[in-house]
Amino acid sequence: MPGGSAAGSAQWWRDAVIYQIYPRSFADSDGDGVGDLPGITARLDHLAELGVDAVWLSPFYPSPQADAGYDVADYRDVDPLFGTLADADALLGAARARDLRVIVDLVPNHTSAAHPWFGAALAAGPDGEARRRYIFRDGRGSDGSEPPNDWQSVFGGPAWTRVSEPDGRPGQWYLHLFDAGQPDLNWDHPEVRVEFLDVLRFWLDRGVDGFRVDVAHGLVKQADLADWHEPQEILSGQDIDRPRPPMWDQDGVHEIYRDWRRLLDSYPGERVLVAEAWVEPAERLAAYIRPDEMHQAFNFEYLLAAWTAPAQYAVITRSLEATEAVDAPTTWVLSNHDVVRHASRLGLPVGTPRPNGIGVGDPQPDAALGLRRARAATLLMLSLPGSAYLYQGEELGLPEHTTLPDESRQDPTWHRSGHAERGRDGCRVPIPWEADAPSYGFGPTDASWLPQPTAWAEYALDRQRGVAGSTYEMYRTALRLRRELGLGAGTVYWLESPDDLLRFRNGTVEVLTNFGTAPVPLPDGAELLHASAPLDGDGRVPADVTVWLRVG
Ligand code: GLC
Repeated sequence: MPGGSAAGSAQWWRDAVIYQIYPRSFADSDGDGVGDLPGITARLDHLAELGVDAVWLSPFYPSPQADAGYDVADYRDVDPLFGTLADADALLGAARARDLRVIVDLVPNHTSAAHPWFGAALAAGPDGEARRRYIFRDGRGSDGSEPPNDWQSVFGGPAWTRVSEPDGRPGQWYLHLFDAGQPDLNWDHPEVRVEFLDVLRFWLDRGVDGFRVDVAHGLVKQADLADWHEPQEILSGQDIDRPRPPMWDQDGVHEIYRDWRRLLDSYPGERVLVAEAWVEPAERLAAYIRPDEMHQAFNFEYLLAAWTAPAQYAVITRSLEATEAVDAPTTWVLSNHDVVRHASRLGLPVGTPRPNGIGVGDPQPDAALGLRRARAATLLMLSLPGSAYLYQGEELGLPEHTTLPDESRQDPTWHRSGHAERGRDGCRVPIPWEADAPSYGFGPTDASWLPQPTAWAEYALDRQRGVAGSTYEMYRTALRLRRELGLGAGTVYWLESPDDLLRFRNGTVEVLTNFGTAPVPLPDGAELLHASAPLDGDGRVPADVTVWLRVG
């Protein structure tokens, strides 16, 4: 459907709440066990009722699914697994009719190995022009049998794979920071730049409201591809003076986003770019959202912060300062398809390093404590100025599937790490809609590409809708109040408080989170607007609870 994006307020993205749909696991219309675009369209009323402003769709493009669709073979079509281009148009139209904006995923760091460009690169041989769109190099050692450098793949194992040349002999190596099925593109090649501008146009013309840019910090590599003697690490508390890894956050990426911004600005409506950039410190991340670059960048430092008052205070303050300096909103997030769901993550002992998946035999989270803290964290997040992303199922309080049988795992991390890392399948399990239906209403049959836990009936939407105090109703009320009270466009004023409390004002609302173990009284004269859990019998705020209060 050609045409403009949803009409509406200027700079809608500054305080928008955006809901991430992981298409494989949201809603399955045809019963094959994999969610699809018609399934999403049929469930849009849920999102309108929940009260979000926009959705972000993870990739649905033709793909061998080596990394659940983040290996794209054709950037201008829909994989038959998920539907057709006509289904995508229907989804965009149905979303617009509900005033929901739609952001799609763009994967520019790498293509799939099944992309025609990569086929041409292999066929071209070592000296062929077509190789230059990717990062091919001769191997080290007298016979070239050693990888060109020591980089590791984010998923484990070497970041290089050797190809067989057209004559059948072992030949060059190509770089893949992720799976071997995801060859990295060479962003110094003009054709790569032209191609992606055209891909952006393709989806802008169909009416999308923006793009979530996958691995936005990875496109440009240090020219000499120097060895890096360190394992891949996502956010390590990097010091601004520490040398930057040669594969991440190179200054050259910014020029690409300036080009893209110019293109987006030439379209009507406010079309946006959101960076998935695992970059620290906050000032380096803020560079991605300078006024002529992207609009938002996920705040992963916030996602990873420990559940203590000092840690949360520090990350919130630092983030707000860094983004204010570039006149951009902070973009809060607690869960997505790459991390352990926050209802489980926060059920691990405080200070546990971020697990890459949890499985049978691993220390299990405390489910009740995790959910309690997750609800408190969400209410804290939704009271902060800026934009916030929700991940499908978190509005149901959904935990990670922490006992998924290892034989059903599909994340390449599990195999590539030699089973050292369980990977991300546990947060990708199809979500429950109806307690008593096959696959909990995910689809019309029992089929589900990852098995759902037996205890998920209690999380199903139909068990929570209209039920006071349910996680779903807590989210709905929070989103309504956030909008009515203008919290997303407000300002944080910290209030003095003991070490294990956070207290601040945002407009006429006071927010209080109790990170301690003892209940605390409400401030004098405060009127309770919302709470992540009931107050105790004496009207005090119990441990691990956030409240919103009306003051003065
Ligand atoms: C991003 C995606 C992740 C994917 C990776 C490679 O981090 O969020 O799911 O595996 O990029 O595309």
